[in-house]
Amino acid sequence: METIPPALLPANMLAVLSVLLLYPYNPVSGVFQRLYCSLSDSCECDFKPNIRDLEWDLYKNVFGQPLAQDIVSEEVARFLQNKSPDRPLVLSFHGSSGTGKTLVSSMLGKYLFGSAMSSPYVHQFIPTLHFPRPDRVQEYREELKSWVKGNLTECARSVFLFDEMEKMPPGLIDVLEPFLGPSHVVFRTNYRKAIYVFIGTSGEEVINRKALESRQAGRDREEITWADLQDDIAQAIYNSTTSGFFRSSVVLQRLVGRFVPFLPLSRRHVERCVRAQLCQRGSCGRGDVVEAVAGGMTYAPVPGHYFSTAGCKAVPAKINFFL
Ligand SMILES: Nc1ncnc2c1ncn2[C@@H]1O[C@H](COP(=O)(O)OP(=O)(O)O)[C@@H](O)[C@H]1O
Ligand SMILES: *[C@@H]1O[C@H](CO)[C@@H](O)[C@H](O)[C@H]1NC(C)=O
Ligand SMILES: *[C@@H]1O[C@H](CO)[C@@H](O)[C@H](O)[C@H]1NC(C)=O
Ligand SMILES: [Mg+2]
Repeated sequence: METIPPALLPANMLAVLSVLLLYPYNPVSGVFQRLYCSLSDSCECDFKPNIRDLEWDLYKNVFGQPLAQDIVSEEVARFLQNKSPDRPLVLSFHGSSGTGKTLVSSMLGKYLFGSAMSSPYVHQFIPTLHFPRPDRVQEYREELKSWVKGNLTECARSVFLFDEMEKMPPGLIDVLEPFLGPSHVVFRTNYRKAIYVFIGTSGEEVINRKALESRQAGRDREEITWADLQDDIAQAIYNSTTSGFFRSSVVLQRLVGRFVPFLPLSRRHVERCVRAQLCQRGSCGRGDVVEAVAGGMTYAPVPGHYFSTAGCKAVPAKINFFL
């Protein structure tokens, strides 16, 4: 904004300006804040994206997930480079338990806002906690809609994480349809700057089948391409009553930007999980514990034993047992 010498401003204008300058960061000043945001377009809360550190953490500390690493870093970088995106960033994570979905989602929270998952602008919804009763869907729909609306009014750059989508009552997520599309800019709240991440195990059958085929053909997991999996995952979750997306218009309208497949983990990935955890505890040298923990996991399918059925889940507990 151009600076105008105070002497040239009428007194009432000065009063308005001083209110705007005094109140912009006060959360109770809803009206003024909205006015301020619309004038300055700088209501970015404490949004401090650090894409380089996000990529570094993703590639260094997430094991065996080339698709997730590439898609997440690409999509986040592309979305944040655009100062006025034409739609929000909507990602949906799929894959078996213990493969790193929650880990990656928490990295997002950590590197988008300085204060990590405790940021007031990272909202995590867990169905068993927030939406436990399927008979209350109508009530939950109203609640969720008003939360998202309210949260976006406070911070256009809000992040919404929906974990354990397989326990989300069918029909609930459709209430987000108007927020996820390209057309929503209402009353100075820009709904297109938000980030939504859905997380669930649904689609694991198609992902695991693909990984198995690739493995049986002697190919590297790096050679699995995401394009192969996008439609299959969309189909699978649309058809499944336990995906949170059963017959969902969010899927039909293609409002999910990318489906992010998390591949089943092999023994060597489990070993890396164990080693990383051990090092964090200052016991880097305990190869015997790496052997014992990785050897104690179950690997499937029965001919082959390629993939850990629980991924890296429960690794810390097993380390405690052997250490
Ligand atoms: N691909 C992975 N790379 C590194 N650590 C992993 C990976 N997958 C799982 N873990 C570790 O295993 C535990 C469970 O992972 P989590 O992200 O909660 O799995 P889920 O896919 O079920 O959400 C966490 O301690 C996490 O750090
Ligand atoms: C933002 O979302 C949270 C749930 O994460 C909710 O409790 C809160 O009331 C919402 N804020 C507004 C202003 O609606
Ligand atoms: C989903 O259901 C439709 C119709 O019932 C069917 O044609 C399609 O093959 C199903 N897809 C999957 C992946 O199950
Ligand atoms: Mg999880």
